[in-house]
Amino acid sequence: MAGRKKIGILTGGGDCPGLNAVIRAVTKGLILQSGAEVYGFLDGFLGLIEKRYRKLEYRDVGGILTLGGTILGTSNRANPFKHFDADNADVSDEVIDYVSLLGLDGIVAIGGDGTMSIASGLQDKGLNFVGVPKTIDNDLVGTDRTFGFDTAVGIATEAIDRLHSTARSHRRVMILETMGRYAGWIALHSGIASGSDIILIPEVEFDIDEVIAVCKRREQTGQKYTIIAAAEGAKPIGGELVVRETVETSPDPIRLGGVSNYIAEEIKRNFAGEVRTTILGHVQRGGTPSAFDRVLATGFGSYAAALVVGDRWGQMVAFRNNRFAHVPMDMVANKTRRVPRNSPVLEAAVSVGTSFGIKNLDAWSGDVNSEEEIPFERLAHVI
Ligand code: F6P
Repeated sequence: MAGRKKIGILTGGGDCPGLNAVIRAVTKGLILQSGAEVYGFLDGFLGLIEKRYRKLEYRDVGGILTLGGTILGTSNRANPFKHFDADNADVSDEVIDYVSLLGLDGIVAIGGDGTMSIASGLQDKGLNFVGVPKTIDNDLVGTDRTFGFDTAVGIATEAIDRLHSTARSHRRVMILETMGRYAGWIALHSGIASGSDIILIPEVEFDIDEVIAVCKRREQTGQKYTIIAAAEGAKPIGGELVVRETVETSPDPIRLGGVSNYIAEEIKRNFAGEVRTTILGHVQRGGTPSAFDRVLATGFGSYAAALVVGDRWGQMVAFRNNRFAHVPMDMVANKTRRVPRNSPVLEAAVSVGTSFGIKNLDAWSGDVNSEEEIPFERLAHVI
C-alpha cells in the first residue's frame, strides 16, 4: 500500500448520468486502497476558485450510485484561466497555491474536454490531476466510451420509439433533435436503435432535397410516415450551425440547438405532409444512469483511484478495446472525437437502408478514418 494521501475531487462541465457513481468509486477506492483523505470541491472549478469544499467520508458516498446529477455540484462556466483577480491576473496561480496550502497531493477531475483542457493546463503549471472522461456526447478522444452516453442513447431511443405512434397514426414526418455538440454519436446510435429512416449528423452535411426525396419515396411506397433523428450539430451543405446561445466565459462558449425547426420548415416548402419537431434537450442528461454506465463509471472511478495511488498524474482514464486504460491528458485536451466515415455502426445503418440525407456517402464531409491513434497504457493490478 502506498503512503496516506490527501486528494481533491471535482465534477466539471454539464451534469451527466454516472457522475455520482464515479465520485463513489473514486472515494471508496482511495479510502480502501490507501486510507486516503478525500475532499470534494463544490461546483466544479468554481469551488476551487472560491475555496469551497467538503470532506468526503466513506459513508458520504453510500447510496449515490444510482442518483443522477452530481452531489458535488458542477459548473460549465468556471475556468481559472479565464477568471481574473483585482489586478487583472488570471487565478490559476492562486488556485495552485491554495491546493498546496490544503496539502493535497492532487485532484481527480471528472469532466469532458473543457475540464480536461483546464486540468491539463494546471497540470503543466505543477498541479497534479487525474482525469475521468464524462459526457453524454461520447466525443472525447483517447477513449472508446465516455460514461453517460449509454444512458442518453437509451433516453433518446425511447423518445423516438414513442414518436412512432404519432408518426404512424397521423402520417407525419417526425423529427427528434438530440444533443451531442459537434459529434453525431447520440443521433447515430439512437437513430439506429429506433429504426429511424433518416439520421442527420454533423459529420456529413445533408442535402435537404434528398431528405425531402426520402419522405416522398416512403409515401409513394406505402410507408406513410418518416422518422428523422437529427443531431443538434447537423447542418445543410454549405450551411451554418444553429446556435441557441453563446456563453462567453465557458470553456466551450457555443450552445447549439434548434436545427430541427429549420429542417422542418425546409421540408414543408416542398412536401405536402405534416411535419413536427421534438427537441429532447436536457432530458437526455437527467435521471439515473443505465446499468452499463454504472459499471463503466465504477470501473473508471476505481481505475482513477489506482492511478492516484500509483502517483500516475497527468493521465485520463480510458476505455480501450473493452479494457480500462489511461492516456496522457494533454493529448486529449481541446480535441473532439467525431463519427468517422469508416465507423462500423454507420456502415450497419447504411446497409439497412437508413438515409444520412445525402445521395452518395462518398460526399462525406467529415473524417474518413477512425480517430488518430493516441497511445494508451494499462495498470497491471487493476480490473
Ligand atoms: O456536452 C453535453 C451537452 O449536453 C451537449 O450535448 C449540449 O450541446 C450542451 O451540453 C448543452 O449545454 P448547456 O447545459 O449549457 O445548455
